[in-house]
Amino acid sequence: MRTHHCNELNQANIGNTVTLIGWVNSNRDHGGVAFIDLRDREGLTQCVFRPETNAEIAEMAKTLRHEDVIQITGIVEERPEIDGKSTNNDEIATGSIEVSATEMTLVNKSEVLPFQLDKEINNEDMRLKYRFLDLRRPAMARNMKLRHRITKTTRDVLDENGFLEIETPILSKSTPEGARDFLVPSRMHPGNFYALPQAPQQYKQLLMCGGIEKYFQIARCFRDEDLRADRQPEFTQIDIEASFVKEDDIIGLVEKLLGRVFKESINADAPTSFDRITYNEALNTFGSDKPDRRFGLHLTDLGEVFANSEFKVFSGALKAGGCIKAINAKGFSGASTGQIDKLTKLAIEAGARGLAYIQARGPEPKDWRSPITKFLSETELAAMKETMNIEEGDLILFGAGDWDTVCDVLGRVRIKCAEYQNLLEGNTELNFLWVTEFPLLAYNDEDQRWHAVHHPFTRPVPEDEAKLKAGDYAGLRAQAYDVVLNGYELGGGSIRIHEADLQDSMFTALGVTEEEKKTMFGHILDAFSFGAPPHGGLALGLDRIAMLVCGTDSIREVIAFPKNNRGADLMSASPAEVDFKQLRELYIKSTKKKEAPKTADETPAARI
Ligand code: AMO
Ligand code: AMP
Repeated sequence: MRTHHCNELNQANIGNTVTLIGWVNSNRDHGGVAFIDLRDREGLTQCVFRPETNAEIAEMAKTLRHEDVIQITGIVEERPEIDGKSTNNDEIATGSIEVSATEMTLVNKSEVLPFQLDKEINNEDMRLKYRFLDLRRPAMARNMKLRHRITKTTRDVLDENGFLEIETPILSKSTPEGARDFLVPSRMHPGNFYALPQAPQQYKQLLMCGGIEKYFQIARCFRDEDLRADRQPEFTQIDIEASFVKEDDIIGLVEKLLGRVFKESINADAPTSFDRITYNEALNTFGSDKPDRRFGLHLTDLGEVFANSEFKVFSGALKAGGCIKAINAKGFSGASTGQIDKLTKLAIEAGARGLAYIQARGPEPKDWRSPITKFLSETELAAMKETMNIEEGDLILFGAGDWDTVCDVLGRVRIKCAEYQNLLEGNTELNFLWVTEFPLLAYNDEDQRWHAVHHPFTRPVPEDEAKLKAGDYAGLRAQAYDVVLNGYELGGGSIRIHEADLQDSMFTALGVTEEEKKTMFGHILDAFSFGAPPHGGLALGLDRIAMLVCGTDSIREVIAFPKNNRGADLMSASPAEVDFKQLRELYIKSTKKKEAPKTADETPAARI
């Protein structure tokens, strides 16, 4: 239906007769001459309708509405000069030409639009309800194209490196670790349920047991968890697994893959190898296992400075085996009361009892404004000034308590301060980082048992294998690694357990009963007892990569049809009630509540 797309014509086409088809993006009437910007997926072309060329279509053109679909044939002309001034539009690729229409067909009319497509729209629900219109906006078209480029490049790179793309089941089995599952009732097996996969973790390991050696999949994953800007209930992973590999092999492959993805999508240069820091270092310095290193605001330990402090908050923390840490937000002593209140609220939400601070209104402790300096000795103040390099204009923020909480609290405070101080304005850096040596297990006080920090198939470091087998679970380290970009966890993986006895010990550590080992994990333990190869892998969040490539701050911007933050698809109005008959066929009885679907309640981030 066309000879060219709407971003294609330029000076070289002048004099050509062309046919274009697309949407009316804008429509202006200049004294009988109609100007229509015609839009398709690729861009815009200005079309001119002059009464002297074709009076009938010039008249028709004036009546066209935004988003009517038209097909035009015309002659490519140079844009004229008017009163000695060029009428070129440098902002679009076709800005030096226009098409003088000789024929036009109105292909399909549009109703009045629910929102204008050429303006920023703040109402996201509206955009999602009419996603088919929202997708026509150039910004969304660009995101879809970039996402395609990312998957295409991924397939190319992994194919070049000998990986086979293999699909694994969507109707799979519920396992107890990880997030909450989405369940699918089985009609043929009344009372039984499939679970949608949270990740293809077990299947990819079984593929390794099946001798596939190098697997990948652009895999859809489902997790019924609390939603955020970077979390959706269904999302996509670039899922990778390989046999006969060590941690460095996976790390090297992923560096190569991400390098190519950023180069081929936005022509950005990622470093050929990324820095690595351990989990402990990441928490100690940045208060996060996915640190954003584009700004400073490092955490400093003040345990020595306050070793003999009489200030109860500090001495209490140290006595209980905890720590005292602080951040120096340089030049932020002018933080408003509102900002300090917000930071305190954030700290309290993260588990702190408060957020002690010092506003250095002058260089010396006597000039400092603070609710705590009165409790501190002169020696302590002097030592702190030295350790924290406190100068006039600084804001110091403190955390005291157990190590995990203090790191987490100050990690969050650190990010909020950077936001208040605009530390990232205009920053275009791609700060990649590997975080390594995660703990293998973490003790959960609430249910009084050990949980896998990554997932139950992750291998301990060789030195800690014997301890795992012996039931000595504290402080075990895992061969697990996360790749981080600008404070986002892009992906995570590990070297796996491939021996039935070690896997059995891991299940024991997690409190899996002998009965459950057979019913839930029998197939894996079985597979590991027939010559399973050593193997490892990783999964990258494709949506998060696309979000960063596209320069947006929500993965909903890079997913064609996302759910909103309450897990609903506003366009098709799902989830929705179903027919009684459908339920009966599935042997399901609904104890129907009249309320609208709610946000899934708090579930710890899942990793399976
Ligand atoms: P993990 O649970 O860390 O590991 O997931 C891997 C990556 O998937 C992305 N991701 C998400 N993206 C959007 N919405 C979500 N709800 C969501 N949850 C996770 C993140 C994350 O880094 N099977 C293991 C990987 C392995 O060991 O090979 C796994 O799924 O970017
Ligand atoms: P209090 O003596 O409990 O009133 O605390 C004095 C100051 O220390 C207040 O500014 C509190 O916000 C702060 N504070 C209390 N507990 C902590 C903590 N665990 N970490 C950091 N600051 C705290």
